[in-house]
Amino acid sequence: MNPARAELAAIAAALCDPQRSLASLVGEAVQLRRLVERHSRLSMERQDGLRDGESFLPSGWAISPVQAGLCAREPYRSAAFIQGLALAVRERLDVSGGRPVRVLYAGCGPFALLALPVMAVLDADLVQFAILDVHAETLAYARELITALDLDSHVGEYICADAASYRIPAGAMPHVIVSETMNTALGKEPQVAILRNLHAQAPAAALLPAAVTVHLGLDRRAPDEPCTDWGRVFTLDADALRAWKQGSNGQGDSLPAASIRLPEVLEQAPRLLTRIRVYGDIVLGDHECSLNLPLPLPGKPTLAGGSVLDFHYRLGGQPGLAFCLRKTPESIQESHKTDSHY
Ligand SMILES: C[S@@+](CC[C@H](N)C(=O)[O-])C[C@H]1O[C@@H](n2cnc3c(N)ncnc32)[C@H](O)[C@@H]1O
Repeated sequence: MNPARAELAAIAAALCDPQRSLASLVGEAVQLRRLVERHSRLSMERQDGLRDGESFLPSGWAISPVQAGLCAREPYRSAAFIQGLALAVRERLDVSGGRPVRVLYAGCGPFALLALPVMAVLDADLVQFAILDVHAETLAYARELITALDLDSHVGEYICADAASYRIPAGAMPHVIVSETMNTALGKEPQVAILRNLHAQAPAAALLPAAVTVHLGLDRRAPDEPCTDWGRVFTLDADALRAWKQGSNGQGDSLPAASIRLPEVLEQAPRLLTRIRVYGDIVLGDHECSLNLPLPLPGKPTLAGGSVLDFHYRLGGQPGLAFCLRKTPESIQESHKTDSHY
């Protein structure tokens, strides 16, 4: 066997083992990152030009090949997605009647990182990938790496397209869709638009991540303390995708989100907390990777205790959560008092 493929096989067996805890897989995820960087033509050692090749799509920011490669340096995140993907594919395999499970990997990055271990542990007659990225350069790196690892037979198609508008061919409906095209609080990058487009065409496909929820609360005060959660602002999962498709909500340029009343006394500035259920009970919680870092509210506003924030999710080129401050009787009285000074 090709030595690089043999090395990958050993790492992959661990990463795809559902019995392993995510914390115990960090070492293997680091080994995987080193392996892909060694065998890729893309140099990750550069200090400049990190954003060369990025683009701003109608659905959000598509990061550059190097920035997408840097995602591999988040071992806990990678372990969660790889273990989840292996689980989703094996579950589908159990009910596929011997036919290969089709996976659509939307936003593969230069290393097709999440797919490689699954390709290494399952034969090509069990799993077939459609590998997609909007950047031709990124897709070319992924293709070269897959060839270098002797895994070509696992790929049915390489697709250079915007996953937020891509039409899936009728005969190629995926059983599993995996896309990690997100940023904290589902801002900036097109995760929501991509899953909306793909799920609408393949509603029976398993989604990874299965659910992303954004909450409003406070950051933890010490590393061993939990964050404070005042309530869920927004959910991205199969139920929400179905509801947005069916209802009148979400047909325009925004999606509905919750309203949250702040506590009367604010000890710190509120934060948006991003929690990800990758698949099954595989989760990424507060502070577990960069995607889960508590984020200040847009514009870092100064807010009074007791204010009510009406949130919505803005679609388009700069996607993300936004809010309006609700006018309460007290705040109207306050503004009259202020007015009376003039
Ligand atoms: C955050 S990186 C993830 C890379 C890799 N999947 C991983 O998890 O390590 C996101 C990738 O998605 C691609 N991407 C972003 N928006 C896209 C879109 N609308 N359609 C297709 N690819 C997109 C970017 O070019 C980038 O390669």
